[in-house]
Formats: sequence, structure tokens, C-alpha cells
Amino acid sequence: MANAGEAAHARSLADPEGFWGEAAALIDWDTPPPRALDDSRPPLFRWYAGGRLNTCANALDRHVARGRGDRVALIHDSAYTGEVTTYTYAELLEAVAEFAGALRALGLERGDRVIIYLPMVPEALIAMLACARLGAVHSVVFGGFAPPELAARIDDARPRLLITASCGIEAGRVVAYKPLVDEARRLAEHRADACVVLQRPQATAEMGEGDIEWTQALASATPVDPVVVEATDPLYIIYTSGTTGKPKGIVRDNGGHAVAMAWSLPHVYGIGPDDVWWAASDVGWVVGHSYIVYAPLITGCATVMYEGKPVGTPDAGAFWRVVAQHRVNGLFTAPTAIRAIKKEDPAGEHMASRDLSSLRALFLAGERLDPDTFAWATERLGLPVVDNWWQTETGWPIASSLRGLDPLPLKPGSPSRPVPGYDVRVLDERGDEVPGGTSGNIALRLPLPPGTLPTLWGDDERYVDAYLSVFPGFYATGDGGHLDEDGYVYVMGRTDDVINVAGHRLSTGEMEGVVASHPAIAECAVIGVHDEIKGQVPRALVVVKSGVDVDPGQLEAEIVALVRDQIGPVAAFKEVNVVAALPKTRSGKILRRTMRGIADGRDEPTPSTIEDPRVLEALVPLLRGDA
Ligand code: COA
Ligand code: AMP
Repeated sequence: MANAGEAAHARSLADPEGFWGEAAALIDWDTPPPRALDDSRPPLFRWYAGGRLNTCANALDRHVARGRGDRVALIHDSAYTGEVTTYTYAELLEAVAEFAGALRALGLERGDRVIIYLPMVPEALIAMLACARLGAVHSVVFGGFAPPELAARIDDARPRLLITASCGIEAGRVVAYKPLVDEARRLAEHRADACVVLQRPQATAEMGEGDIEWTQALASATPVDPVVVEATDPLYIIYTSGTTGKPKGIVRDNGGHAVAMAWSLPHVYGIGPDDVWWAASDVGWVVGHSYIVYAPLITGCATVMYEGKPVGTPDAGAFWRVVAQHRVNGLFTAPTAIRAIKKEDPAGEHMASRDLSSLRALFLAGERLDPDTFAWATERLGLPVVDNWWQTETGWPIASSLRGLDPLPLKPGSPSRPVPGYDVRVLDERGDEVPGGTSGNIALRLPLPPGTLPTLWGDDERYVDAYLSVFPGFYATGDGGHLDEDGYVYVMGRTDDVINVAGHRLSTGEMEGVVASHPAIAECAVIGVHDEIKGQVPRALVVVKSGVDVDPGQLEAEIVALVRDQIGPVAAFKEVNVVAALPKTRSGKILRRTMRGIADGRDEPTPSTIEDPRVLEALVPLLRGDA
């Protein structure tokens, strides 16, 4: 008999209307959609047009209405404060409905945008759901981004409100958030009406004009009912790094997203309403949006939200303590977290000392899962270690073994096969499909399934230019790799300037822009070099202007500070090497792609037009991370 997952995949491609039409029944609609796919405006496709719903009602109200109000919805566990806070579905609904009332009292209406810059506190999830309840569009910005990045997002999303906290806590260090928001507001051209500030006990934020404390905003709030919106209305915008230029505002709609969340948690991850699920990421990333907040709550299970790191808080046993204490059934994190744990505890002693019997599988995504980490985790845990490949743009996995639908045998180095809804192809530069086993550009045949980006915020044209016109009829993932003889996908790295640092996606082009702004720099290249824990870290190769005398140590410190101030600590930018020259073609183009290939260990042919091969040879140790 055919594998059920494979059969589902085949049907989803042959009959998307039927497949996703049935899946729509997983959520509650105010007006059920008359049809699943609207293909009247290719290459732009929409799902469930004509359907009406509220995403927050699907995440909260419907569970309470069905008598599950006393079930645990959220377990917040902070390794920094030592506190565990639990909300039932009824309690979370009350908190969200009240905060939505507070936002409405501040003038927030359906369609308005809200920028959320919060650490990993329950209020982050409450704020997101409160926006969803009102039909407002949230845009959560990860706390590791600096004010200029936040300002760029404010100017693109043009929010009516901002929501922040007095501070985050990072490896035991208190990071004041409010001054960063104040600075971003000073830099941005757009003026938001107000900023709601959560005062945490670890720091007190100074309040200014237009600022209102969370508790004060709540004081006169009346709980509000969910506002029904169109399936195609935006639920959120999440900004992600792309090839140079301003960050891309990935749009997520309400209907397609709710169905994709409701379908993927049970089918891909094998998690149902009676489970405890933990996605160890940050709400600022897509993994946090999809699998800390929306998918588990729409499914009706308990979601763990963890403030802490995998190591050092207090030790490499932090994750296993959380799994044992909350009887977690499924854990999702990035390979980098496992590498960090492995480095501190290679024998897995912390793991062995805890009762991990509740755990059924470990899921890893966000960057390539290297075979060593896969083998180590599999052996130590004695459980399936399931690699899954996706992107901010797709919002849920493109390829994985389906834990809820006949899991496939796992192969090291591969996130298994395409998930239902995704038609994965490998294309050469001309857009022709390459034979199995041959590397090329990984592309997805249109239409993409529900829950994936319908467009970029306010910019259909940029969406088409950046993703849909590279290979007509396909969405270009920006990833390179191949398919093997069993149809397993191997994702080997990006074909553009994006690098992946500790599971965080960053643009080297953007970093180059900042490095080049230093007055001593004539030209530069930022390349992602191999790092044992973070997978990749950025390294700047800089050529100093002739006649300028610099102290390399001093220059490095200045450039590192510049990147930290402009992009943020998340860039993990620490290395600057002064070099005599950068490799170029005879026409003067810097050979970035060739350098990236050397750094990634990929065989990029050196162009015959190279001006002086010795310049490149001299840089090889730096690119390989040996120097
Ligand atoms: N607010 C403020 N600063 C932040 C921050 C936040 N929310 N998140 C990270 N930073 C800072 C860190 O403190 C660090 O600053 P430093 O240079 O002063 O030390 C810098 O940004 C880089 O952070 P990070 O890349 O997370 O490095 P780390 O050394 O602190 O931790 C790991 C490394 C691997 C343990 C950690 O990245 C991790 O657990 N990652 C896996 C989970 C994950 O987040 N995946 C993402 C998507 S699934
Ligand atoms: P992000 O948008 O931050 O989720 O980053 C998406 C990018 O991370 C993808 O385009 C890939 O380059 C990489 N990525 C994510 N998951 C995997 C995986 N399982 N295997 C290989 N690369 C991955």
C-alpha cells in the first residue's frame, strides 16, 4: 500500500481545490469559503477568497466554547527569573480580550498595523492575539535588532501603535528595550499614535509623550469580541532579510494561514489537542509565530514559551529540565541549539539525568542539519530527529517526514520529502529541470499552498520581481541543492547573499553597506564563514583607503560597533580582516559568489575572467575560517 503521506502529497498537487477545500474544515468560519483557490490573477494566487473568520477566535474562543476552557493553553517558563506562569484557554481568552479592549480604546481598528518589540514574555503572545482579535495587523520585530532596523520596519508598516517592554533579559544581562524604541521612533519618518509599555520588574522604562503603561491601558478596558475579517485580509507582516535593500515585509493572510497551521501541527509534527508542544525559538521569528503561537493554539494543545538559552541558563541541561518538568511531547528548535548543548555536554549526561519519556520526537529547522548533529541527537535521545526545511516566506514546512501521516525513513543531511502542497523542483540557471542528483536552484511550482506569502507588504511588484519572475511559473526559494533517487530534498545553502547565523537569517549585503560606511574603508566583502556552533558567522574582508593609516584592532572594534548599532547584536558580527585586495573580474566586479562557494565548501568554478588568481588564493584560509 502507498505511504499515506505520499498519497496526500500526490493528491494535494493533482487536486489542490479538493485537498485544501477539505482541510478548510479544520477551522471555524463565520462564512465558509465558496472555493479554496482563486487563480484568476496568476502569478498571484489567493486561498479561501470569500471566506470570513477571525484567527484569534480559532485560537481561543472556539476551544472555550467547546468546553476546553480549563485546559492549559500556555506554559511560560523563564530560566532567568525562575518563574513558571500557566494560562488555561479561558484565562488566555480573558487576557487577550481585555488587552484587545485596551488597544481599541487607543484607537486601533481593523486593518491598522501594530509593531510589537517584546522579549519572550506571555504579553508578546497576548499582544499578537489581541491584534488578531481586532483584525489589526501585527508586525513583531526580534529584540536583537537595533533601532535603525526597527525604524525601517516602522516606516514600511506605518503602525498606529507600538508595543514594547522596559527590558529583555539576555543570558542574565538586562537589555533595556524602551530606549531602543525611543531611538527608532526618533529615526523613523512615520509617527505612531502611541506606545504601550510593559514595565518588567528588572528595569523601569522612562515614559514620555504618547507612551502608556500596559497596566494603565488595561485599567479602563472592556473585553472585546472577535472582529470578523476576510480570509484574504492580512494577519501579520514579518520582515526578513533578503538580497540587499530594505527588509522584505512578508504578508500572512488570515484564512490560508489558519488552515495551514491547523493542518501542519498534527500532520507534520504529529501533535494533537492533548499534547504539550514546545517550539524553542523566539516570537520574533517565523518559527515563533507559527509554532509558539498560532498552530498550537489553533490545534488546542498546550504551548510552552521559554525565556532562556539552551546553555548557560543555568547549564547545558536547561532544555531537558523544561521537557521533563512540563512533560513535553514534541520539541522543535534549531540545530545550532543542539550543537551548543553537544559542545558543553558531549556525553549527554544532562539528558540522561532527566525523565524525557514524554518526548516523542525532536524537530530541527532554520538551517541545514549537519549529519554529525543529527547522529549525536538521535543516539543520545533514542528518538526520531526530524529535519524540516522552510522559510519565513512559506510559514510552514516545505519538506519533512510527516510524523502524523506515515513517517518516512530519515536520511542524514536531508529534510526528507516535500510536504503536501509543495511541488519542489531543481532548476538550472535557464529554468530547466536538472536530472536527479544534480545540484541547482530549488524552486516551488506555483501555486504555493495556503499559509504561504500572498505578497510583500504593499508591493506586489517587488514580490513578483524578487520571487516569481526568476523562473516563470515557479517561486524561487533562494536555496540551492538537489533531489536524490528517492525524491528526498538536500538543501545545501543559499544562492544569494543571505547567511544563517545561529538559525537567524541575515543579509551580508546589508552588512557590507554598514561596513563600507566607515570612512577608512575603500571596499569590502562580508562572507558567512563556518562556525562550529552558529553554523555560519559573518566575516568582513576590508581594503583600507590608500594613504590611510589604521590600527587593525582599533578598526575592527569600530566596525563591529557600527554593525551592532546599525543592525543589532543579532548579526553576531565580530570579525574584520584587513586584506591587501579583494578578488575581482577583469571588469572590476568583486567575486562574492566565488568567495561564498569557498566558505561553504561548495565547488564554485572560479570565473575565467578573474583578474589575478593569487588575490583569491591568499584569502582561502580566511574564507574557510582557518585563520
Ligand atoms: N534581545 C537583545 N539581544 C539579543 C536578543 C534579544 N532578543 N537575542 C539575541 N541577542 C544578542 C545576544 O545577547 C548576543 O549578544 P552578544 O553579542 O552581546 O553576546 C547576540 O545577540 C547574538 O545572539 P545569538 O546569536 O543568539 O548568540 P548567543 O551566543 O547568545 O546564543 C545560541 C547562541 C546558539 C545558544 C542561540 O542562538 C540559540 O539558542 N539559538 C537556537 C534557537 C533559535 O533562536 N533559533 C531561531 C529560529 S528557529
Ligand atoms: P528563515 O526565513 O529565517 O526561516 O530562513 C530560511 C532559510 O534557512 C532557508 O531558505 C534555508 O536557507 C535555511 N533553512 C531553513 N531550514 C533548513 C533546513 N532544514 N535545511 C537546510 N536549510 C534550512
